[in-house]
Amino acid sequence: MRTSTGQPIRLADYRPPDYLIDAVELDVSLHRHATRVVSTLAIRPNPAGRAGAALALDGDELQLVSIELDGNPLDPAAFAASPEKLVLANPPQIPFTLRIETQLDPAGNTKLMGLYRSGSAYCTQCEAEGFRRITYFLDRPDVLSTYVTRLEADKAEAPVLLANGNLEAHGDLEGTSRHFAVWRDPHKKPSYLFALVAGDLAHIADRFVTASGRKVDLGIYVEHGRQDRAAYAMDSLKRSMRWDEQEYGREYDLDVFNIVAVSDFNMGAMENKGLNVFNDKYVLALPETATDEDYAGIEAVIAHEYFHNWTGNRITCRDWFQLCLKEGLTVFRDQDFSAHERSAPVKRIADVRGLRAAQFPEDAGPLAHNVRPEIYHEINNFYTATVYQKGAEVIRMLKLLIGAPAFRAGMDLYFERYDGTAATIEDFLGCFAETSGRDLTDFKRWYSQAGTPLLTFRSAYDEAARSLTLDMAQATAPTRDQAVKLPLTIPIALGMIDAAGGEIALASADANPSELASGVLELTTASRRVTFTGVASRPTLSLLRGFSAPARVDDDLTEADLLILSRHDRDSFNRWQAMQSLATRLLLRAAGAIRAGQAPKIDADFVEAYGAILGEAQAGRIDAAFAAQALSLPSEGDIAREMERNVDPDAIFVARDSLRGALGRAHAPALARLHDSFGGAAHFSPDAASAGRRALRNAALLMLAAGKAEEGAQRAQRQLAGANNMTERFAALAALCLTPGAAREHALEAFARAHAADPLILDKWFILQAQIPEKETLARVRALMSHHAFSMSNPNRVRALIGGFSANQTQFNRADGAGYALLAEIVLTLDPTNPQVAARLLSGLRSWRSLEPQRQSKAQEALAGIAGKTQLSADVRDIVTRCLS
Ligand code: TRP
Ligand code: ZN
Repeated sequence: MRTSTGQPIRLADYRPPDYLIDAVELDVSLHRHATRVVSTLAIRPNPAGRAGAALALDGDELQLVSIELDGNPLDPAAFAASPEKLVLANPPQIPFTLRIETQLDPAGNTKLMGLYRSGSAYCTQCEAEGFRRITYFLDRPDVLSTYVTRLEADKAEAPVLLANGNLEAHGDLEGTSRHFAVWRDPHKKPSYLFALVAGDLAHIADRFVTASGRKVDLGIYVEHGRQDRAAYAMDSLKRSMRWDEQEYGREYDLDVFNIVAVSDFNMGAMENKGLNVFNDKYVLALPETATDEDYAGIEAVIAHEYFHNWTGNRITCRDWFQLCLKEGLTVFRDQDFSAHERSAPVKRIADVRGLRAAQFPEDAGPLAHNVRPEIYHEINNFYTATVYQKGAEVIRMLKLLIGAPAFRAGMDLYFERYDGTAATIEDFLGCFAETSGRDLTDFKRWYSQAGTPLLTFRSAYDEAARSLTLDMAQATAPTRDQAVKLPLTIPIALGMIDAAGGEIALASADANPSELASGVLELTTASRRVTFTGVASRPTLSLLRGFSAPARVDDDLTEADLLILSRHDRDSFNRWQAMQSLATRLLLRAAGAIRAGQAPKIDADFVEAYGAILGEAQAGRIDAAFAAQALSLPSEGDIAREMERNVDPDAIFVARDSLRGALGRAHAPALARLHDSFGGAAHFSPDAASAGRRALRNAALLMLAAGKAEEGAQRAQRQLAGANNMTERFAALAALCLTPGAAREHALEAFARAHAADPLILDKWFILQAQIPEKETLARVRALMSHHAFSMSNPNRVRALIGGFSANQTQFNRADGAGYALLAEIVLTLDPTNPQVAARLLSGLRSWRSLEPQRQSKAQEALAGIAGKTQLSADVRDIVTRCLS
């Protein structure tokens, strides 16, 4: 195991490489346990590096077979080789060729980094530092090379041979059972974008013609028998390719674009040049196997990886500190694409939900870090919600601040100026400073300051003066390594509405005309006062419309204000937010009461507002997908986050459960009507409108089942039996899971039997059971770990069952600490074989300090137990150390 060296890597220490590698020829002869890799490198001293420096190539668990320099075996005295390094103390100071032969054991590679086997295929994962597990190399993103890859394998075992770029040659090796293929990628790229795939795979083919007429062959490779599940991914790919042309003027640049779906993958997918490798969860879908959410996930991830071709591949990162340069920007682009293809407000709500659920807790806990980190021990642990999601929010704010035309011009300039290079955040921002004529120095603080800012809004209406004074303030709490936080540049989209929902024109001497016209005020200092004039009666403020900045909000809106917003705000996001805020206030009060031994009170106004949305949804006056969002209560995690400290998940559960029950009982007839009228289309279509109707129907079923167990169960049974798609079938199963007993167990067993051959469907079944809020769940999870479909070596299975369990607020956070102990046990079991996944699971404990004291001490005990082990991977050591610091 590669354990931590303890030496952090710092942004401040960046130096250009001392050598460059212009061209790479890889000759890979594939065998399960003894693959031979011959790498021929065209190397030269880097004029920007240190003259005469040693050449230190990276390795990771490598076995060197032979090494030649300019065609001659290298004198053993001239180099030193270990599994982690290959050092030439005095390399030539003119261009030279190094030929390095290594031997690998792909079948024994459990880390899923480098060359490994998934099912019966060979595949690679090189980001961030996996290429060094294939051959010795300058494995850093600022070393850009052209690649020619020759693959050789057994014809029967691996009839398909794929690598980056265009296919140049292929053929049989006469007199043997083997064949070969040669792929050439003319675009210079960093080593993390290298990929190869070989195996007995089926594929579907299509064709895309770019705006300028280049014909591109598209292929999606899957396990045999799964071809019919790849159609939606192909459709998503073609729409993504068109969108990047239309929205950014960016065309595809090779003759081939291939995607391969594999079942063992550490993350979602990987943007290797011309050969994207995907977790099959983000490729495979049929109405009977995938939910609407799965379809949306496929569309988003296909788009994300495709968009990387320009934001990531053509322009890559100078170093891994700049990860958000490609990830935040590409998430922004895929979110925008999905918003365009579906409903923009609903997509925004889903993205903000995700940001708050994943990134806000990260930013509020011991793992908080800058969007652009400045120090790391293990780069794998920085593929985070902060780099990805908050990174995307920063781009979104930039666009809002400088306006769409300057944003597009800045992107054009960025592509023009940095194409073919490895760039930095400074390079990127410089383009927008230029096209907008704006100084972005202060804006850049978003990249270098961890923590979620808290926005405070206080307003005072002066009837005599017909004016409203709004005081805005920002503050970011100190984090471990940053005591003092500077003011951020925060775009605050806002509006004022009257009691009937009419929009009140913004007029003020304290704001720029452009701010008043766009409705986006800029808060660039700790506080700002703006007095709006010409306000005839007390208005209701709609603040942070569209969630215009990744901030927490403390406002002085009354519940009456929120009710007005929930009905009338023309900003759909804030209509949804108003319902969430009302429910959150109610649930926080209820949880407090329960903790104090009192009965929770349910607010009649909220119950009525909820009913009003049901009515509008029934009448078709609001979009079904939006209604489904407005009708789902804040999650237990949302409430816990709002509580901030001394969290008691049991009290939160009881509060939420009783509100759900009350809503379900009060509105049972309306919910039943929705369930009847939005149901069961004869023909399934995955489009957004149809998905929205199903989402509304399922939200109604769930709420009804929470209020009227009997009626809910009957409807769920009917839906389960009659559904022609997984979305409805799985929602019915989830509704049945609300009530313990034989009916639930039967339904679960039948579901498992029906889908025994489908691991991706069984993952849903694992998650569902792991999330049951009953004390028997711990034992159930343990039992499921022995289920024949479960495997510790498959990341999707582990994430479903164990990741699902650690998201179970009451059962993971059991007061006796048994949930934490189970997680710790699994992390330690998994660490030696797959440290990346082990570290990610462990981060489920990051919010431990916000818990009430008893749970805190149990969680700390579990963390300390892990920290006390001597043999930990760098990945787990890094997380556990930061969690305890
Ligand atoms: N670059 C990939 C993406 O965002 C992320 C990724 C895929 C990754 N596999 C990985 C990162 C393995 C680290 C390790 O699409
Ligand atoms: Zn990405």
